[in-house]
Amino acid sequence: MAEKKATNITWHEGSVRKQDREKLLGQKGVILWFTGLSGSGKSTLAHHVEKQLAQRGNLTYVLDGDNIRHGLNKNLGFTPEDREENIRRIGEVAKLFSESGVITMAAFISPYKRDRDRIRNLVDEGEFIEIYVKVPLEVAEERDPKGLYEKARSGEIDNFTGIDAPYEEPENPEIMIDTGSTDLEESVETVVTYLEKEKII
Ligand code: ADX
Repeated sequence: MAEKKATNITWHEGSVRKQDREKLLGQKGVILWFTGLSGSGKSTLAHHVEKQLAQRGNLTYVLDGDNIRHGLNKNLGFTPEDREENIRRIGEVAKLFSESGVITMAAFISPYKRDRDRIRNLVDEGEFIEIYVKVPLEVAEERDPKGLYEKARSGEIDNFTGIDAPYEEPENPEIMIDTGSTDLEESVETVVTYLEKEKII
């Protein structure tokens, strides 16, 4: 956890509030947090949900693991400490996005339960929607879209989630989707239906 270094700082509240922005957009600003193994389909699912929501006139943004690690978090690797900091920063960014009223989707392995729970506690109840993109390790490894499982097995990469680094499954996710047995269209529908049911869209 990053320690607080700055002193003499004051929180400034603007006169336009979150609910004013939500009213403008006709939606609720929430965080859809996609967690799961590499190759589980988190990013694919998030981007397809985004496409569907855009067609309905909803404003969204996808924060995606590999992309964020090219910029904001390029100084972080895959040790437990670096992953914790990775997720902490993304959580703060996702919170800012959701406060702007945007339906914010974060697709990160986020293997540690404690790190995910911290983000849940950062926002109001109902604003953090954990989506467990579940897939058997064998299926993710079989897909191996980036060839990384092969490298992890041969020892070329270490600390690889599912191989020599842990993945802690969510205990009570709002949504669970098994991408090994559910097709993409149905998975997108599950997420969109949840958002309708909870009156987020
Ligand atoms: S997290 O664990 O900190 O949440 P994040 O989602 O940002 O991970 O990044 C995961 C992506 O980084 C994977 O999809 C994969 O492309 C790449 N990657 C490179 N090395 C590793 C590793 N050791 N473990 C997991 N993913 C890795």
